[in-house]
Amino acid sequence: MVDRRKNGQGGRIRLGVNIDHVATIRNARGGVHPDPVRAAHLAAHAGADGITAHLREDRRHISDNDIDRLMAEISLPLNLEMAATEEMLEIAVRHKPASSCLVPEKRQELTTEGGLDVIVGYEHLSAYVAALKEAGISVSLFIDPDEDQVRASKQIGADKVELHTGTYVEASGQDVRRELDRLRRAAALCEELELEVHAGHGLNYDTVMAVAAIPQFTEFNIGHFLVGEAIFVGFEESIRRMRVLMDRGRNRATPGGADT
Ligand code: PXP
Repeated sequence: MVDRRKNGQGGRIRLGVNIDHVATIRNARGGVHPDPVRAAHLAAHAGADGITAHLREDRRHISDNDIDRLMAEISLPLNLEMAATEEMLEIAVRHKPASSCLVPEKRQELTTEGGLDVIVGYEHLSAYVAALKEAGISVSLFIDPDEDQVRASKQIGADKVELHTGTYVEASGQDVRRELDRLRRAAALCEELELEVHAGHGLNYDTVMAVAAIPQFTEFNIGHFLVGEAIFVGFEESIRRMRVLMDRGRNRATPGGADT
């Protein structure tokens, strides 16, 4: 029997609040408002366990200065999402965030469209995984919920993987079940391989509970929906509601957990 408690599985899921799209709104006018660092402070106040920010090559949302300020001003751990490039590696090593998440990046895409191909990119990625770990930064790989990608991530030496939930979130009808099954199988394999497993992309109030019910997940990284919902209810309230639903989903999955 796997002892889930020893690696945080089956327990409370950490919430990493992604603040990229606060910066998207700021950048639409080119000024300083709304400030993503202020959003990070609010997220901490609302119970977030970490802050996630993606410094993209084209700096379309988060800027270098945002990263400087997040590192200086925020006490929550920063999870830096980054492409596997020399420029990003230099920035990560300079700042030493608590963790990094390597993501694929194409300039033309609207958002991160699919996970890394760790099998095809093995040689290239392994140098970045090694260099980040050497700098004392924990390394996650953002992958599709695919068992071969999970095995390759373990083999390459990643500390953890983040499973891309985008296909599940966008699925309808019969496909919802199929996509949840893919997430379940990939998460179970992570547990077998002793790889910490996170989830993220596109999660919202309607989709988060079913993923939270998969006991192996220890962290969710959620951004776009929370920032959008903040327009209607405020940022703190949008985060608090997400927290409640994550706990409710997890609680349902726990034997003896109250189904509230
Ligand atoms: N995790 C990763 C690796 C991502 O690239 C993103 C999107 O930036 C997220 C989580 C958060 O996705 P969303 O903003 O759709 O919640």
